[in-house]
Amino acid sequence: MPATIVLGAQWGDEGKGKVTDVFAENADLVVRYQGGNNAGHTIVIGDERFALSLIPSGVMYPDCTPVIASGCVIDPRVLIDETAMLADRGIDPARLRISSNAHLIMPYHRKLDAVMERYLGRQMIGTTKKGIGPAYADKYSRQGIRVQDLFDPKIFRDKLTAALSEKNRTLTRVYNQLPMDAEDIAAEYLGYAEALLPFVTDTSLLIWEAIDADREVLFEGAQGTLLDIDHGTYPFVTSSSPTAGGAMTGSGIGPKTVDRIIGVAKAYISRVGTGPFPTELSDEVGETMVEVGGEFGTVTGRRRRCGWLDLVALRYSARINSLTDFFLTKLDVLSEFDTLKIAVAYRSLGETYTEFPRQQRVLYNCTPEYEELAGWRTDITAVRRFSELPLEAQHYIEFIEDRTRVPVGWVSVGPERRQVLARST
Ligand code: GDP
Ligand code: IMO
Ligand code: MG
Repeated sequence: MPATIVLGAQWGDEGKGKVTDVFAENADLVVRYQGGNNAGHTIVIGDERFALSLIPSGVMYPDCTPVIASGCVIDPRVLIDETAMLADRGIDPARLRISSNAHLIMPYHRKLDAVMERYLGRQMIGTTKKGIGPAYADKYSRQGIRVQDLFDPKIFRDKLTAALSEKNRTLTRVYNQLPMDAEDIAAEYLGYAEALLPFVTDTSLLIWEAIDADREVLFEGAQGTLLDIDHGTYPFVTSSSPTAGGAMTGSGIGPKTVDRIIGVAKAYISRVGTGPFPTELSDEVGETMVEVGGEFGTVTGRRRRCGWLDLVALRYSARINSLTDFFLTKLDVLSEFDTLKIAVAYRSLGETYTEFPRQQRVLYNCTPEYEELAGWRTDITAVRRFSELPLEAQHYIEFIEDRTRVPVGWVSVGPERRQVLARST
């Protein structure tokens, strides 16, 4: 039963889009299982660059079916625009399938996301303001509106009226905003039904049928382990479960079907938005990582915070997800530095931590303990075999494997699809 999960092992933007695209060549189905258009996944094919927010990266291959499963939240306007963008660029999105159980991001979710952030002031999370948190909050409080509701106008209007009466009270009385109009929203959303109908199906059944027929299924995570609602750096997290467990609940498939769980990790680490970040660099090394690594958000254009690789966090990620392998990305960016540092432990409040701290007070006060490794200082973007990497780069990878006890199966040395090498070469 060849199912593989590709997920973010850090705080997102590890290169999941590229990695999924690399593996999707042999996949029948590529499934997004959580999140929404807060994600920005980049695929580079030759001179062409694609940024996808909702549609799984498998869409690039004509024989691969991209699936948006029940655990996702869908902004229908964004989805329709993304299918149009792909069609314009010669990629046929007709094979896309979306779950009738996925929840819809409504206009009041986007509005609430923006005003709640403003009211948080200094405690703001730095969300993408796409309405993700409020949409998941409605899902869990059972006030959500799902894709299938678009095809039953009476039910849609009933649910919308119920949800909006509460939202309008919050918007006007708590946040000093103008109320939103139910009929405007109904007219807009019911207008999307026709365009979405051909894509909507029972995605859990579709995935099961593919697995049952021994076809290759790939699950593509969005965000990353440290942004997980349960296991991340709460409350500075997203509102879904990017971790391996989330791939199962989000797609309606049991864990016995998965045989590989690949954690995508940058050779350094980045974070966008607020929250604790032990190895963050605010010096010129961090600046170089931002510039050379092009570390600006795919979705919001925000500058990403950067720092040295954190093995405390990666070991945590390996444990939370039962990782079978790492896919190490952006190793080429480290060619800039004479010496490289890797965090192997934290010091906080007088103690040493080798496991990721449970308490936010501890995490906030962490200073990393580093080991220094020699850099290689040569261009590695054309290297296609592990054995042809400079010895220092091989050693950097072996160090990660040694300390996490997870093999680095593949290494990416540039944004382009072919800039990949397998560890076994
Ligand atoms: P995702 O959200 O995990 O899919 O990652 P993003 O697409 O948001 O950010 C990763 C960025 O790094 C994108 O601009 C990619 O094109 C780029 N990228 C991916 N792998 C590599 C690599 O090995 N080297 C370099 N230099 N860039 C890479
Ligand atoms: P991909 O899939 C990096 C961050 C936001 C914010 C927090 C909550 O491209 O790796 P949200 O809008 O989800 O409520 O924001 O999560 N965040 C991401 N950071 N990559 C992402 O996606 C992210 N999606 C959300 O910056 O800190
Ligand atoms: Mg991204």
